[in-house]
Amino acid sequence: MMSELKINLSDNRKDKPASDKLGFGKYFTDHMFIMDYTDENGWHDARIVPYGPIALDPSAMVLHYGQEVFEGMKAYRTPQEEIVMFRPDMNLQRLNNSCERMSMPQVDTQFVLEAIAKLVEIDQEWIPDGEENALYIRPFMIATEPALGVRASKEYKFMVILSPVGAYYPEGIHPVSIYVEQQFVRAVRGGTGEVKTSGNYASGIKAQEVAKTKGFSQVLWLDGKEHKYIEEVGSMNVFFKVNGEIITPALTGSILPGVTRDSVITLLQDWGYPVIERVISVEELFEASAQGLLEEAFGTGTAAVISPIGSLSLGDLNIEISGGKTGELSQRLYDTITALQRGQLEDSHNWAFKV
Ligand code: COI
Repeated sequence: MMSELKINLSDNRKDKPASDKLGFGKYFTDHMFIMDYTDENGWHDARIVPYGPIALDPSAMVLHYGQEVFEGMKAYRTPQEEIVMFRPDMNLQRLNNSCERMSMPQVDTQFVLEAIAKLVEIDQEWIPDGEENALYIRPFMIATEPALGVRASKEYKFMVILSPVGAYYPEGIHPVSIYVEQQFVRAVRGGTGEVKTSGNYASGIKAQEVAKTKGFSQVLWLDGKEHKYIEEVGSMNVFFKVNGEIITPALTGSILPGVTRDSVITLLQDWGYPVIERVISVEELFEASAQGLLEEAFGTGTAAVISPIGSLSLGDLNIEISGGKTGELSQRLYDTITALQRGQLEDSHNWAFKV
């Protein structure tokens, strides 16, 4: 396997954006990581180079059949001026799981973690100040072989780019209105919903657009077979607090195993809440609401961390959750996870990786 990482630093550094105007994924740092793969030579030519466009043959397979996987994670500066990433080992393990499903080559997670740490170190001045801000890390892999046959590519590029980001939603943590999607589905068992590949996101945009025209922020995805069971919300995992218990859809094959999802489950268990991973029907949820038992609902993801759900609409039925406000538990989870990520709380689960 490859041991050498070449570094070519940019002599043309960009101006950094103001930390209160970052948005999500609009700005990119001065450098990026790339390595190439061929079936004959494996991964090679690992390098950190100035950020910029890449040349692709118009017949590169990713452009036609979508062999692509990606990850999302964040780096922060702690009060002790250390740079930390949050649970990158989980993201890189998931990257390899995604590669396996998409017939793409695995990476050496230890080497990639070291390369990402080096890249973050080089561009550390881009880690933005401000409570809601972070340096978002986007590793991704694309099929680059110039060929139009439908089969696995024999050539790939793996890249990592960095983006200083603010809150995913411009308003920060705030309750969103959600439309229960009964026509479109995100994923089916046996499909690719449980891995992080671009097609899952491309096929979800239509439902999101329709929901927006109806005045909703996002959709609640139901299972692809019976359109009955809850899967995810927008591009996030979803949790409900019902009569004191926390319920989240079990990972039955069409749901992405989120790193934030896992962190939330662990924290809730630490705090003594019963957390139940099981199938949950939308009917059951609306029934719980009618009985006054639905106390909170929220999405979890790397980008937004915790996204409280203020209302759910199913056809003409509309239910308000937590009085349309951010629930107490949602706020506590958000505050705890963002503080852990920033090294402001004791890291009892060893989730921080020091760069
Ligand atoms: C996340 O919640 O972090 C996501 O997966 C959304 C991302 C694709 C922007």
